[in-house]
Amino acid sequence: MNIERIKKIGIVGAGTMGVGVAEIFAEFGYTVILYNRSQAGMQRALERIQSKGAVDLAPIEKETDTAGAKIYTTHDLTELAQVDLISESIAENLEVKQDIFRKLDEICDAKTLFTTNTSALSISQIATAVSHPERFAGMHYFNPPQIVPALEIIKGESTSDATCEVLINLAKQMKKQPILVQKDVPGFVASRLQFAVVREALHLVEEGIASPADIDAVVKHGLGLRWALLGPLEIADLGGLDIVNAVGSYVAKSLSNATDSPKVLQDLVAAGKLGAKSGSGFYDYPLGKARALIADRDEKLLEILRLKSRDAS
Ligand SMILES: NC(=O)c1ccc[n+]([C@@H]2O[C@H](COP(=O)([O-])OP(=O)(O)OC[C@H]3O[C@@H](n4cnc5c(N)ncnc54)[C@H](O)[C@@H]3O)[C@@H](O)[C@H]2O)c1
Repeated sequence: MNIERIKKIGIVGAGTMGVGVAEIFAEFGYTVILYNRSQAGMQRALERIQSKGAVDLAPIEKETDTAGAKIYTTHDLTELAQVDLISESIAENLEVKQDIFRKLDEICDAKTLFTTNTSALSISQIATAVSHPERFAGMHYFNPPQIVPALEIIKGESTSDATCEVLINLAKQMKKQPILVQKDVPGFVASRLQFAVVREALHLVEEGIASPADIDAVVKHGLGLRWALLGPLEIADLGGLDIVNAVGSYVAKSLSNATDSPKVLQDLVAAGKLGAKSGSGFYDYPLGKARALIADRDEKLLEILRLKSRDAS
């Protein structure tokens, strides 16, 4: 299949990720139909897009050819019948995702490419819901998707090489940095690396070795600052593999090898402390704090990207 054939994109789910993904495709000239099941959720999504003034909007019940309009919105899944590619960003739950793809499989053309933004679920298992699993793949964005360049393309057991190739070319066309994940393992590459860090961070908290704020400081002012420029294996090369090997042989046995989510995390969730969205987690979020943090994060991320692209050119 040819990348030129992809013109119309169906985004399923207008939450944190779906809205950002819709913005990327619209920015690069694709016609986007954004589906959300609830009116209230769609309203919040529209407010987020409008507040940025980034794209023209035509909130509609039925698609029209309004000149200049790039994101159309709908509550009716059958409006996605004519799209060339689906990007799904609904709840992180296998049955919920299979259910929506089962419906989309009946609605969409047999040539439609199906992609899921799951952070960790099995691509192959979600793909059992569709009749052409060779056209089904993971397309995993990083939050905020409209800013962060990395984009994992995950090959399920039945995903064809041709599908991966189209998605990689599509990602490049939208100035993203595609990463091909060749095996469908839980968490792919990014969520595995991220959770390995979170697991050890919470192990350090549980053992009373450092406070959450000090652990975050190590990453913000040390490790993470370098990671914006060099990957961990490049850093190992620069530091000297003999040193990394010596540290590894001494430290590895004392690291957390927990096979479940850390207890401190389970306890916070059970207490309804879900982080910024519930007002508290490891830290407290009085009204407006999370919004300000996100705005500050996005502004600085764009600044870092500008700096990186200046160096590249
Ligand atoms: N938030 C992140 O940092 C992040 C990053 C990468 C990938 N993801 C993945 O993207 C997906 C969405 O995450 P999010 O953070 O945007 O979630 P969210 O809760 O902000 O949005 C989910 C959206 O899906 C809709 N939805 C939920 N269940 C549905 C159903 N049964 N049918 C139709 N619509 C339904 C909700 O109405 C909501 O609009 C998840 O699979 C998540 O793992 C999230």
